Amino acid sequence: MTRVKFVAGNWKMNTNKAQAVELAKAVVAGAKAISGVQIGCAVPFVYVDAVGQVLNDTNVMLGAQDAYFEKNGAFTGEISVEMLKDLGAKFCLTGHSERRHVIKETPELVGKKADAIYSAGLTLVHCVGEKLEERDANKTLAVVEAQMKELQPAKLTDPSRLVIAYEPVWAIGTGRTATDAQAQEVHAFIRDLMGKMWNADFASKVRIQYGGSMKPDNAKGLMSQKDIDGGLIGGAALKADSFLKIVEAGK
Ligand code: 13P
Repeated sequence: MTRVKFVAGNWKMNTNKAQAVELAKAVVAGAKAISGVQIGCAVPFVYVDAVGQVLNDTNVMLGAQDAYFEKNGAFTGEISVEMLKDLGAKFCLTGHSERRHVIKETPELVGKKADAIYSAGLTLVHCVGEKLEERDANKTLAVVEAQMKELQPAKLTDPSRLVIAYEPVWAIGTGRTATDAQAQEVHAFIRDLMGKMWNADFASKVRIQYGGSMKPDNAKGLMSQKDIDGGLIGGAALKADSFLKIVEAGK
């Protein structure tokens, strides 16, 4: 089973509007020459529209970092999946560790958001990963399994629109990357688990990204692992040249 690698930038709460547009233009310019890898940028809500206009009709997919699960109504401050679709978004994250641990989203809320994003027709990038104390207590696989079970196999039927991002929390923004073997071990576990939650064929088609201090110099090693099908890139995605080098490493 050959899975097309998917490398996506997660810009988090960074850039102003002009910087977002400039970064998007530079990514588009560099991405033109790249084929065989799917490329995306998950941008701050307020710049989805402006960046979307730059990414329109290019090989760089527009994404968002979060979405609320209700379609519309009295949910002050929230953004629906429909609104993101209206602006051209093609994928959306759920369960990012910063939303779980800084914003304090519950597993129940993450699950509802995942369902809403997939059901609306977008590609869902569901993030999972353990904290350092959980790894030290040998709880990595149990934590990841619980986060995977926020998903509803009966509803998620198209493997091409499901992406799992394994992001060990201790590797995010710390410069400390999981070794190739540490990452591969958890990716293999996730694929095996999906085989049980869905079936082996479905599991073989879902891309599993690695995230956590992925940089141009460690991207190739990570993405050469059997079950690592791309990356979700934070810091290194804020500069087009380092992001594009990581994309190249996915070829
Ligand atoms: P860094 O690449 O900055 O470690 O961030 C990873 C991440 O959280 C992507 O979602």
